[in-house]
Amino acid sequence: MDLDIQGRTAVITGAAGGIGAAIASRLAREGVRVVIVDLAAEAAEKVAARIRDGGGEAMAVAADVTSADSVAAMMRTIADGFGGVDILVNNAGFTRDMRIGRMAEADWDAVIDVVLKGSFLCSRAVMEGMKERGWGRVISISSRAHLGNPGQTNYSAAKAGIIGFTKALALESGRSGITANAVAPGIIDTEAVRNLGHFEKIEAAARQITPVQRLGRVEDVADAVAFLASERASYITGEVLHVTGGRY
Ligand SMILES: NC(=O)c1ccc[n+]([C@@H]2O[C@H](COP(=O)([O-])OP(=O)(O)OC[C@H]3O[C@@H](n4cnc5c(N)ncnc54)[C@H](O)[C@@H]3O)[C@@H](O)[C@H]2O)c1
Repeated sequence: MDLDIQGRTAVITGAAGGIGAAIASRLAREGVRVVIVDLAAEAAEKVAARIRDGGGEAMAVAADVTSADSVAAMMRTIADGFGGVDILVNNAGFTRDMRIGRMAEADWDAVIDVVLKGSFLCSRAVMEGMKERGWGRVISISSRAHLGNPGQTNYSAAKAGIIGFTKALALESGRSGITANAVAPGIIDTEAVRNLGHFEKIEAAARQITPVQRLGRVEDVADAVAFLASERASYITGEVLHVTGGRY
């Protein structure tokens, strides 16, 4: 299937590793110019360099998606380097798990901020340009956790919030040729998941409870994002694409 997005420019937040880096590589393979945005400047540069070494076009921009000033500076750097943004992938996010009785206010705020405020600030920043050009894709990474996970009231609330955010944005922006969709991955084999410390148990459990009997791969998520970012998905908006191996 020809995704027909060659020459577009994509910004992927939180792309210094894991799922974000895989999305950036996948889009770059389609001839998309990719901007690797992350707090971790050095790691972001490495991802961009790897994509350039493979023949793709990539630049790294250090930014904090929870800061309006930082997002504005990021947009200026991207405008100087690559021009307008056609595709935004709101991927930056992390967990700060704890049962609610012991959850620190700071851990609630941090997760809500990076997922929801980050997606709001970055989407707001690209919206005007997308409207002017009459074409745009906003893809936000939710999670299967939007259905609720014990120990994740903050993360589940944020990831469910992403779905409401996406549906509202889709209604607001469809007339301008902009689609907004969410991708909700199940457990994906990433450094972040491996660092949880009981990876073998997680993998064994995933085999048992997932109909396709394996953990997800970063490429599984990247392929879903690439499709939603493409011309082929222009009649799909306000949707949630579950990349969970059939687990709900
Ligand atoms: N790994 C999974 O199993 C899984 C499952 C469902 C959803 N997700 C979601 O996918 C996304 C990527 O997860 P991952 O597993 O690749 O994690 P990751 O930790 O590898 O990637 C997240 C990146 O976000 C960056 N980041 C954090 N705060 C930031 C900020 N304020 N500004 C800019 N960048 C920031 C981090 O530096 C990191 O590079 C997250 O939104 C996560 O919630 C992951």
